[in-house]
Amino acid sequence: METISLARGIPAPECIPVEELADCARAVVEQDGVRVLSYGPVGGYQPLREWIAQRHGVAASRVLVTNGSLQGLVFLAERFAGQRVLVEVPTYDRPLKLLAARGIDVGSVAMDEEGLELESLEDALRAGDKPAFLYTIPTFQNPSGRTLTLARRRELVKLAREHDLLVLEDDPYGLVRYEGEPLPSLFELDGGEHVAYSSSFSKTVAPGLRVGYFVLPEALERELEALAVSTYITPVLLGQATVFEFLRRGNFDANLERIRPLLGARRDAMLAALQHELPSASWSRPDGGYFVWLELPGAVDADDLLQRASAAGVTFVPGQDFGGGPNTARLAFSYVSVDEIGEGVRRLAAVAAEPVAA
Ligand SMILES: Cc1ncc(COP(=O)(O)O)c(C=O)c1O
Repeated sequence: METISLARGIPAPECIPVEELADCARAVVEQDGVRVLSYGPVGGYQPLREWIAQRHGVAASRVLVTNGSLQGLVFLAERFAGQRVLVEVPTYDRPLKLLAARGIDVGSVAMDEEGLELESLEDALRAGDKPAFLYTIPTFQNPSGRTLTLARRRELVKLAREHDLLVLEDDPYGLVRYEGEPLPSLFELDGGEHVAYSSSFSKTVAPGLRVGYFVLPEALERELEALAVSTYITPVLLGQATVFEFLRRGNFDANLERIRPLLGARRDAMLAALQHELPSASWSRPDGGYFVWLELPGAVDADDLLQRASAAGVTFVPGQDFGGGPNTARLAFSYVSVDEIGEGVRRLAAVAAEPVAA
């Protein structure tokens, strides 16, 4: 029996535009090979940097294009090593680990269905040293799939101003929306003064290109560039130039239009399967992104459930990895097929219903 992975938060194979990217990579090597195959500016491939700057209405000097956005988070963690950073809980597990590994005191901000709770943020601001920044994923959050409401976005930006708090808005999923109207980003609402922004081409083009980016206050951009120089000398210009060629040809929006229904059908299959198989549980209903957050009824322990689920041929990530409660789980619908989602949730429901040995 093949294991069905509801753990992998990566795009389904058919979402990756292989042919177009092959063509773009060949074109950039042929046309600009000496530049893209050499060392280059650590801030990023200049045409891409400018495209990003224009998209966000800032000077190119505020844009840092990194080898995946996770690499930029590493630089930020290094820059603020030993200080205090606030995160919403649950949150993406990798930043949690890499912040902790650099001696950062990670303070928690509670969330509900509408995203991070502002009262909890105010409590956290009062409870300790001034944080270096707040890390938040307001749109189709990893792991919960939740989206911060417009009213709370406005409130958060106001609070950031009042407290002179730097907010890092991590937004790799915002464009991967299946329904509903897009919300303004925190960065847009704020005008880019107290909010820094990061995104990535991992979910909109392909993760293996390793092209992510940050829009930062100018001084911080320069500091992170210095860390990048001492880490990898030059970013992967071939990946960045390939992304730029993809954008230049107008493939970006067309690709988003192509992948939205592919992923939206998976989201629909996940919600329908949960309704059918696990009606006593509760779960988030995201309008986009890759994930559903599952809360199991009663005293179910997701770590224990995972062991039994793996034996039954389905995997997921227990919510505790993201700072969630013991009865929570992250289910990714992005990678497997619609049929596999149905079968995976059936297998999960079957083991969840089994009596647990004392
Ligand atoms: C919220 C969030 N931020 C950052 C990343 C990392 O993206 P990248 O591939 O650009 O490093 C991910 C990947 O899953 C993510 O979910």
